[in-house]
Amino acid sequence: MTADLSPVSTPALIPTLGGKWYVDDTIFAAEQEQLFERMWFCAIRTGDLAEPGQFKRVQVGRESVLIVRGRDGALRAFLNICRHRGAMLCTEDQGQVRRNLQCPYHAWTYGLDGKLVAAPNMAALKDATGADIDRVAYGLIPVALREWLGYAWVCLADEPPSFEHEVMGAVTERLGDPAAIDAYEIDTLAVGRRVVYDVAANWKLIVENFMECYHCATIHPELTEVLPEFAEGLAAQVFVGHGAEFGADIAGFTVDGSPGFGRLPGVTPEQDRRYFAITVRPTVFVNLVPDHIIFHRMFPMSADRTIVECDWLYTKDVVAAGRDVSRSVELFHRVNEQDFAACERTQPAMSSRAYREGGVLVPAEHHIAEFHEWLSCRIGDVR
Ligand code: FES
Repeated sequence: MTADLSPVSTPALIPTLGGKWYVDDTIFAAEQEQLFERMWFCAIRTGDLAEPGQFKRVQVGRESVLIVRGRDGALRAFLNICRHRGAMLCTEDQGQVRRNLQCPYHAWTYGLDGKLVAAPNMAALKDATGADIDRVAYGLIPVALREWLGYAWVCLADEPPSFEHEVMGAVTERLGDPAAIDAYEIDTLAVGRRVVYDVAANWKLIVENFMECYHCATIHPELTEVLPEFAEGLAAQVFVGHGAEFGADIAGFTVDGSPGFGRLPGVTPEQDRRYFAITVRPTVFVNLVPDHIIFHRMFPMSADRTIVECDWLYTKDVVAAGRDVSRSVELFHRVNEQDFAACERTQPAMSSRAYREGGVLVPAEHHIAEFHEWLSCRIGDVR
């Protein structure tokens, strides 16, 4: 009798996307159109626009989007384009106006609600039927906006997909319990630190890196000290769904394992001393630890460049009291720098003939295979 040596019990390596997915301008343009301009895109921390007249400009796909706090307190989003002859309305990334937004070209002026309120010789301006110009019809073009977790999410689609399904559902599915995210009360927290990283890598390399912990034992010495399960490499990924547990001698999620700031008020005993990581497609990563939140937003700028804004969020008391968050911030700042260096080291290889057919995924990287499947469905299979 011959021994059965067939590798049926050994999961097979799975092919990745080919290198052109990470360098090809046509594919990047398709991603802008099919993903960033159709899905809910996390744009700003709402607290950054606390006062009426404050605005921020963000790049969403190929569009410049203006987000403004109105005099009524509401946040609104508009395409940052003047309705007269198309000049960019706001050319600064952020600022504050007293009452109105005025185009710097011929001075058409818009209210904070987007309505056209004035234009030189406006009384003489008539539409094609000879009627007075319609201030709403010639106002700024609105963009759908939802607020959740203290962030403003915008959607450029004519008919936005369900926010509850696409965004909230992704978080619920990951944590398994719809109430789990609420416990952290992320919308009530304040930004203790923000670091903006300019990463010379395709946005998907950053997503893929975030989705696996196969690399943790190799490049994240500080993180694996705090989360020993992550040093197990192949097995590490399974812990993230139910929360990776802090090491026995670790007091807090800090660079040296020293104490943090106690539990956020709503965090449950089951969530204490655990780290959860969530990916919200296409551009958001959220890390939950008992005393703070690390919230990443990506802004894909080109096929080989991605801006990543990372917020460290604490209770308002911690931030208002000027507590020292440096040891707390330093842990994930190092993780970010280690991750982005790995992505930048990988990016040049994407145009090499060695990677024309792509590489392979080990079983622990199965989330990346699901991401590639999803991407191929949305963009079309160009492998
Ligand atoms: Fe804005 Fe003319 S293009 S006022």
